[in-house]
Amino acid sequence: MQTCIDIADVRRVRDAWRAQGERVACVPTMGNLHAGHLDLVRHARAAAERVVVSIFVNPLQFGPQEDFQRYPRTEQADAEALRAAGVDVLFLPSVQVMYPRPLEATTRVEVPGISNDLCGAFRPALFRGVATVVARLFNIVQPTVAIFGEKDFQQLFIIRRMVEDLAFAVDIVGIPTVREPHGLALSSRNGYLDAAQRQQAGILYQTLTRLAQRLAGGARDYADMQARATEDLKSSGFRPDYVAIRRVSDLGQPRQNEVEELVILIAAWLDQTRLIDNLRVVPGAASK
Ligand code: PAF
Repeated sequence: MQTCIDIADVRRVRDAWRAQGERVACVPTMGNLHAGHLDLVRHARAAAERVVVSIFVNPLQFGPQEDFQRYPRTEQADAEALRAAGVDVLFLPSVQVMYPRPLEATTRVEVPGISNDLCGAFRPALFRGVATVVARLFNIVQPTVAIFGEKDFQQLFIIRRMVEDLAFAVDIVGIPTVREPHGLALSSRNGYLDAAQRQQAGILYQTLTRLAQRLAGGARDYADMQARATEDLKSSGFRPDYVAIRRVSDLGQPRQNEVEELVILIAAWLDQTRLIDNLRVVPGAASK
């Protein structure tokens, strides 16, 4: 595995691969890699001859009060895991390389509307920062395919929209969430939780599965289901930002007799840690 820290190095390798007709899969990450990330790498290896993983804790997607400073940085262990996983290039840029201008003067990419909903309503900087850094990574690496986790469901939706709107020549592939045995979705931020909280955090997935069962069974009282689940989470020690039942196709609010696939999304705080998770469900599937 080669580690590249600047753009010219990545492009040189990328051009050599292209000259041989090789496809390139890119896995953008912020590091502190866990089994979920390595699963993305596994899919990347199946999707292309070459795999580039980027590690960059992107300051543009953190708000001023958020965890940019304390976000876990474990580059050495990450590099070892990626080498063992058969990655060809680790792209490890500095902030200077990714944003040569001061952040406030940097060109931004914005996917309007949906970026201000759900997580975007609580983290206004998030999706502009994500769209900007992913667009820049795509222009640097020029991958054939890029792999993202479905755990960040809204992020994946926004990236697909950006790729469509800006005509990036890259296929976006979403990979199902990897979970701990008790249901907790793997996330770098789980490292902020102590052992008891980690156990407690499994309640998010239990909440999702309960709601999914009700929707699959034909329940349609979305507002009531969201409100009750929010109260249940509060009683279990969480501070929910939202519990939302949305259409998978456009993340819009479903009509009363929706037949399209739905996704239940939750964002909730457990002490100082913000956790997100989601689950897809076909309404009425259990009653067919
Ligand atoms: O999901 C993440 O780890 C980040 O949001 C991403 C896509 C690497 C952009 O910084």
